[in-house]
Amino acid sequence: MKFGYFDDANKEYVITTPKTPLPWINYLGNNGFFSLISNTCGGYSFYKDAKLLRITRYRYNGVPADFNGKYFYIKDGDTVWNPGWQPTKTQLDEYECRHGIGYSKFKGVKNDVEANVLTFVPNEDTCELSQVKLTNRSSQTKQIKLFSYVEWCLWNADDDSRNFQRNFSTGEVEVIDSTIYHKTEYRERRNHYAVYSVNSKIDGFDTSRDAFLGAYHDNRDPEVVCEKGECTGSVAHGWSPVAVHQINVTLNPGETKSFVFVLGYCENPQDEKWESKGIINKAPAKKLLAKYQTDADVEAAFDRLCTYWNDLLSIYTVKSANDKVNRMVNIWNQYQCMVTFNMSRSASYYESGIGRGMGFRDSNQDLLGFVHLIPERARERIIDIASTQFQDGSAYHQYQPLTKKGNSDIGSGFNDDPLWLIAGTSAYIRETGDTSILKEMVPYDNDMSVATTMMEHLKRSFDYIVNHKGPHNLPLIGRADWNDCLNLNCFSEHPGESFQCFGPSEGPVAESVFIAGMFVKYGEEYAQLAELLGDQAEADRARKEVQIMYDAVLKDGWDGDWFVRAYDAYSHKIGSKECEEGKIFIESNGFCSLAGIGVKEGLAEKALDSVKKYLDCEYGVMILQPAYTVYHLELGEITSYPPGYKENAGIFCHNNPWVSIAETVIGRGDRAFEIYKKTCPAYTEEISEIHKTEPYVYCQMVAGNDAYLPGEGKNSWLTGTAAWTFCNISQYILGVYPTHKGLQVDPCVPSDFGDYTVTRKYRGATYNINVKTNGSQKGVKSMTVNGQAVEGNVIPFVEGQTEYNVEVVM
Ligand code: BGC
Ligand code: NOJ
Repeated sequence: MKFGYFDDANKEYVITTPKTPLPWINYLGNNGFFSLISNTCGGYSFYKDAKLLRITRYRYNGVPADFNGKYFYIKDGDTVWNPGWQPTKTQLDEYECRHGIGYSKFKGVKNDVEANVLTFVPNEDTCELSQVKLTNRSSQTKQIKLFSYVEWCLWNADDDSRNFQRNFSTGEVEVIDSTIYHKTEYRERRNHYAVYSVNSKIDGFDTSRDAFLGAYHDNRDPEVVCEKGECTGSVAHGWSPVAVHQINVTLNPGETKSFVFVLGYCENPQDEKWESKGIINKAPAKKLLAKYQTDADVEAAFDRLCTYWNDLLSIYTVKSANDKVNRMVNIWNQYQCMVTFNMSRSASYYESGIGRGMGFRDSNQDLLGFVHLIPERARERIIDIASTQFQDGSAYHQYQPLTKKGNSDIGSGFNDDPLWLIAGTSAYIRETGDTSILKEMVPYDNDMSVATTMMEHLKRSFDYIVNHKGPHNLPLIGRADWNDCLNLNCFSEHPGESFQCFGPSEGPVAESVFIAGMFVKYGEEYAQLAELLGDQAEADRARKEVQIMYDAVLKDGWDGDWFVRAYDAYSHKIGSKECEEGKIFIESNGFCSLAGIGVKEGLAEKALDSVKKYLDCEYGVMILQPAYTVYHLELGEITSYPPGYKENAGIFCHNNPWVSIAETVIGRGDRAFEIYKKTCPAYTEEISEIHKTEPYVYCQMVAGNDAYLPGEGKNSWLTGTAAWTFCNISQYILGVYPTHKGLQVDPCVPSDFGDYTVTRKYRGATYNINVKTNGSQKGVKSMTVNGQAVEGNVIPFVEGQTEYNVEVVM
């Protein structure tokens, strides 16, 4: 069952009922000012950091669902309604929400009044714009009232949700004409404030939540709107400041009136905070608001946003006979990659934006799907991430986006982290050819006095693994590897202890076969970087270490029919036939195979067959089987989840593409694509009532076979699935893979995929790549570039050449 449809021509998902199984959201903003917005106008905004600079309030896990947003109330006689349906939930005569690329549009119709709301964050400014158009579709003149509503967050979202004894006394606002200034804490250490303004005269305002809603009311029935009909002009002193404008609107038959609302974030230099004693310097707000005074201003900004996105999305496009693939590749998968790049795992409807900032592991992986879009931003991100690395090559697991400093709450000791830095950097250089990044001086733990070159950072990443091996010469796991819940040194016995932080950060025994797989893959990529810098000795040394690891995996990481997952602190196998539960895991099998381990020995094929046999289900490939049914002290959080959920036998979408990529490595296009389809939103759209999360983006987890409701998705949007799936489909299935020498074309498609064309912008040139598949799954028979036959399947990069027309025959 569907709750809307894809409008590919407009790059939109059109939601046709507000009653989706879960809130279906969108992200607005790219450069600092961000908003989450749901199909019923729920959501919130923040500047740069969802924890430290939260602009408006949201109530996570509230009742009813998805409560608090930026609302517009329309009072038409005795009827009060919202264009996005919530919060009054007045039945609408017509409803539509279009989530687009960087914007959302709402259309609500009630009693012959049509409201169209367009909301987006312009690329150039730190604000969100909402254009509200009201049309009278009746033959009578309408006298209606429009009320806006936002609830301010007192900046630090964590403190805001806990420290009421203080916060109920700190709130401050100013109101000048149609602009409401939120200036809590500006009097002391803050030099920023927020504004909410409208481009018309107003007929009233409120800034005290209590005055607007009334005691024992909520956003569903604000007393001012539903009973009094007039704002009270309240000026908030403490409690909960809000911003409400009231505009009385007369609409003649057929007439449309339009209003532009601007929600902005403004900063002043420290010594220019005040206009006069107690009066905040409003210059930045005035400058901002002056830019968005007319519909034409808004529409021009909207056009610029659309052009910006159309340009970005033209960097990789495919034309194939499969509409769903085209839609995901050309629009939604890349869009989600931008969002995960911006947010890491900080703010979604499942991540509160308080607990987790930018993940070292997560952000590096996000780069893999983003680097082609805006390489300069990827470069900056790589340096930011590397700057939180420790001198021994290990890393803070997370850092705060505002300060860019490592977050000691979670600390370090996740032994996969160092290698992801090689993955991200290598992807950047393969995309751009810019080896200068390797020569940049980059600090450790943000301390510039101990800075070294970026290449030295990568060396320390690599050597961290070389120097931290266990009894089987496999990498020590530390607190966990990619699977945050495999806590083999934790041994937590008391509720409330964080599985990720409890216990020693390092144990001398527990080992990860998954990290071994990573080492083989990224060790080779590291060797290639050394070669690019002319350091053959280092490349040779790296390859020797990779070979040693490869051999260790075949010796002690192979279980007979699949790869072992790990060894615990007693050196017992995890993910082996010997185990009672958790006999086979996806991660080591996917990653070791995609890294090429056991391919020539025929073991990768065997492992992938086992994955199909034991881990496959209708909705994807489960993370492990059989599910753990009891808590194991020696395994940690993984066994804390009920069977079928999350890391305990859920379908963790993130590592499904690893298996699919591994299938392309051994040339099985049919199977690679079968896996791709199972979790692909454009396919799961059909079962939205089961899947529940947004049908245009990936979610982190889908309940596995052991769960109460197999197929039910959770944690949409912020997942490494976005980047990895984009790599899978664009680089491995469609097969256009950036190498240091140029683009390689090595498709691995299902036999009935048909011919297709990829257009790729790469290092200043446009590549038009036509692939004739001839029913084949893998193997390029011939390739011509601008009419010339070339050897092999890498398109030779010619400096200065701007167009490559490539014919590939499989
Ligand atoms: C989740 C993991 C997540 C970890 C990090 C765990 O509770 O199951 O998916 O990576 O928390 O905070
Ligand atoms: C989500 C976390 O963000 C990610 O870092 C981790 O790899 C997966 N969960 C698996 O535990």
